[in-house]
Amino acid sequence: MNRKFKNNRSKYLIAWLPGDGVGVDVLDATKIVLDKINLNAEYIHGDIGWEFWCKEGDAFPERTIDLLKKVDAAMFGAITSKPVKTAEAELVPELKGKGLTYRSPIVRMRQLFDLYNCLRPCKGYPNNPLNYKEGIDLVVFRENTEDLYSGVEFNPVPASLAEVLSRESKPFAPFKDLRGDQYAISVKVNTHRGCERILRAAFDFSRKFGRKKVTVVHKANVVRATDGLFLDTAREIAREYPEIQMDEANVDAICMWLLKNPLNYDVLVAPNLYGDIISDLCAQMVGGLGFACSGNIGENLAVFEPSHGSAPKYAGQYKVNPIASILAAKMMLDWLGEEQKGAAVEKAVAEVVKEGKVRTYDMGGSNTTLEIGEAVAAKL
Ligand code: IPM
Ligand code: MG
Repeated sequence: MNRKFKNNRSKYLIAWLPGDGVGVDVLDATKIVLDKINLNAEYIHGDIGWEFWCKEGDAFPERTIDLLKKVDAAMFGAITSKPVKTAEAELVPELKGKGLTYRSPIVRMRQLFDLYNCLRPCKGYPNNPLNYKEGIDLVVFRENTEDLYSGVEFNPVPASLAEVLSRESKPFAPFKDLRGDQYAISVKVNTHRGCERILRAAFDFSRKFGRKKVTVVHKANVVRATDGLFLDTAREIAREYPEIQMDEANVDAICMWLLKNPLNYDVLVAPNLYGDIISDLCAQMVGGLGFACSGNIGENLAVFEPSHGSAPKYAGQYKVNPIASILAAKMMLDWLGEEQKGAAVEKAVAEVVKEGKVRTYDMGGSNTTLEIGEAVAAKL
């Protein structure tokens, strides 16, 4: 069933957000594939990225937020994220005097639009020379709005907060005798609702696609409050899915076990930061960043992206592998309810990988980004 078009339009409206660096290159290749499958869609360009931060002091301008409110889905390329503090911003001539701190636009987008489900499939396509082992087929569900990404951070720590903390945190309070400017605090926040909806997404997916096992990743033995809530909620939800095996794993241990035997795992679900980390590990086992696709999915909007960064040194060279971005477009097609088109795109990617005639440098070839897009499109 197709998702209803928003506002009774007769075609999908898709925001097209290439962003910075190679984000532009890989989205160009992805467009070749989407044009070939004749999706009934209009693509609208949106401004986002470092360039707009430098020019306007906002990497995610209001007009782009307005665009995202209107569209059915979005394709996003990549963004140059720099940990710029106010003091450093003062050194950039265009930003001087504005008192700005850079915040990652993608993190803002996830929170603003409540895109709570970060879905990251990691499938090893046969004959990919970068596969760690043949037959890997993992799906990571990463909570995408809270946890250590809450954005509730203090540096310096205000006196009022310092006072509450030193009163409440016994017996271990390394900051007890420190001044507020001698330490920093980043708050990890998990809510029951936040845990529940990502866990449900993982279990519902497993039920729908006949997946056998959901591994819940945590560190509840140490991070008792927040990860404890995640784990308790998982145990509660798992009872509703008796046909699916629930497995519990500490985040450190799972990194070893995944490398040791990735074929033992199926669906993984984790709070935000652990999900960020294990999804890179899983991606590397199926070809690395050139294959890592990602969906940021909410109730009313979903934004699809390759998980890689903007790789400024390769920008505009049309050198990097666009398969991650093409697979992200496949995820978008599935989310829109265009599963047949989605399956066709994935099959075309798998054939191109299997034949091994057209490959970018990461796979040992010398083809360009656009040539990969053309090769995939030619299979459709
Ligand atoms: C990802 C990235 C982002 C994150 C960065 C770019 C802010 O690593 O999408 O996995 O940490 O979520
Ligand atoms: Mg990441």
